[in-house]
Amino acid sequence: MLDGLKRLEYRGYDSSGLIVATNKGFEQVKRTGRVVNLEEALDELQYGGNLGISHTRWATHGDVTEANAHPHTSSDGKISLVHNGVIENYVGMKQFLEKKGYTFQSETDSEALSNLIAYHYAKEGRASGKNPFLEAVRKSLRHVEGTYGIAVVCPDFPLELIGARKGSPLIIGIGKDENLIASDVNAITHCTQNVVYLNDNEVVHMTNADFSITTVSSKNVEAVIHKVDWDTSAAELGDYSHFMEKEIFEQPVSLQNGMRGRFSDDSSTAVFGGLNLNSQELRQIDRILFLACGTAWHACLVAEYLIERFARIPVEVEYASEFRYRNAPLDKNTLVIAISQSGETIDTLGALREAKRKGYRTLAINNSVGSTIARESDGGIYQHAGPEIGVASTKAFTSQIMICAMLALYLGRLRDLSYEDGIQIVKALRGVPEQVGQILQQNEAIAAVAKKYAKYEDCLFLGRQLMFPIALEGALKLKEISYIHAEGYPAAEMKHGPIALICENCPSVFLATSGEIFQKSLANVQEVKARKGKVICIATEGCEIPDNLVDDIIRVPECHEIVKPILMSIPIQLFSYHVALERGCDVDKPRNLAKSVTVE
Ligand code: AGP
Repeated sequence: MLDGLKRLEYRGYDSSGLIVATNKGFEQVKRTGRVVNLEEALDELQYGGNLGISHTRWATHGDVTEANAHPHTSSDGKISLVHNGVIENYVGMKQFLEKKGYTFQSETDSEALSNLIAYHYAKEGRASGKNPFLEAVRKSLRHVEGTYGIAVVCPDFPLELIGARKGSPLIIGIGKDENLIASDVNAITHCTQNVVYLNDNEVVHMTNADFSITTVSSKNVEAVIHKVDWDTSAAELGDYSHFMEKEIFEQPVSLQNGMRGRFSDDSSTAVFGGLNLNSQELRQIDRILFLACGTAWHACLVAEYLIERFARIPVEVEYASEFRYRNAPLDKNTLVIAISQSGETIDTLGALREAKRKGYRTLAINNSVGSTIARESDGGIYQHAGPEIGVASTKAFTSQIMICAMLALYLGRLRDLSYEDGIQIVKALRGVPEQVGQILQQNEAIAAVAKKYAKYEDCLFLGRQLMFPIALEGALKLKEISYIHAEGYPAAEMKHGPIALICENCPSVFLATSGEIFQKSLANVQEVKARKGKVICIATEGCEIPDNLVDDIIRVPECHEIVKPILMSIPIQLFSYHVALERGCDVDKPRNLAKSVTVE
């Protein structure tokens, strides 16, 4: 369980706990802070056991305290559980249970579910052939509004474990003389690569030797066993200082893997296996709507520029959390594409389900095989970027842009994009891993620049056209790992307000690429310099920048338009990484964040 928690810690790390079923009953340990604090407290356990549950928390309800850490045990001591998700009707549940004599030790919604299951367990008759523990769990879940991924134990059934999910992921691991439940495949690939993905409203009842799946309403469900295809070392730190550093430097490989086997024999277009849409159906698409959150949403903005430029299809981009409640009117030939590294972001999943409810064709661009979003979309493209553990997304972002560039190429070549243009684009994409490797060699130089700007508390990122989404991404990277207040804007937009922020204590990072608007970007730089703003310019080799105009410059190789977003992302990742290091921040586990946001 500790190994699993350490592998899951990037998903939430403000407190942790575990319970073991021993022959003397349950034993529990909880600690605030990182999992290592829990490990150091394990000598409090006096007995051994072969069944247990454990949890590392990202707080939703209640402060970071030991009392609020999971597992949560019912006040009659009969039920203990760990829970991912949000129980929206927990207040009413608590009031009902308090009237029934149950008491509460924490401020969490999860404890209400533990007491509710205990309530139904106490009421459950001992009818022959029925397992009262399982019946109590199923009955209780039928009263839950909201989301859950849970694992539940009961001291009267010390060899049985129950799991269930609705909205939060849950996976069964089929091991050798053992079975496991986890919220993320990363937690168990060192034990087994044979997994079953639970679907919403399903309940698994297991022992070390067997398991069965039913729905919450007791209907039997056939288990489908999948084999996880990556090796466990992919999710380990190796010789790097941080996962974020490892994943930044993995990008030549992750980008190569995203392209593998996905170009046509004549190298004039891309080919995808899992769209489940034929050429004719794709030609009828007259609008594409992208849905995502955070960094993935920035990838969607890049996709908008690329697909409109190279495939001439109108594209809209919406925050998933906004789309799912907005009831937006869409053309009937709209293709909806969700982008999600984890494939479990609940807002993106909710938006995808809303689009499907309205009958739209859906695709997912996703980095987690077997994830909920991958399984619930009509087709999709796996990123094959390998596990991304660092909370700040890096290789997954450039991988998403790469996939979107290939999708723009593919859709374009189904329409007006010429053979020659296709050949040039494929050549440019194939050159990306080497060019990224060249940029990574500037790591030390970029670190030196970053150290100069680590003392500031504000920063602007500015770019035009394809560089605007990269400016947004640069601002998000910097703010989420260094806690500097950073904002991204279209460079021309600065004059409409943000320029008021410019002063010697608010540096600006300009993303400038050669082309017809370079001179306009230069004019924006001069507007900043005229107000004593410091300027860091990230520019392609072909940009002629007057001496002494900018304070620091970082160059990336000249390249085709379609790959500029990928190359220009590398310096902003390294810049943010080194600024955060200089400020002594926890790069892989920044405060308040979690890698996969499975709560609304
Ligand atoms: C990225 O640096 C952030 N940690 C976050 O914005 C992330 O991109 C967002 O939560 C979406 O996650 P997903 O791609 O797994 O859906």
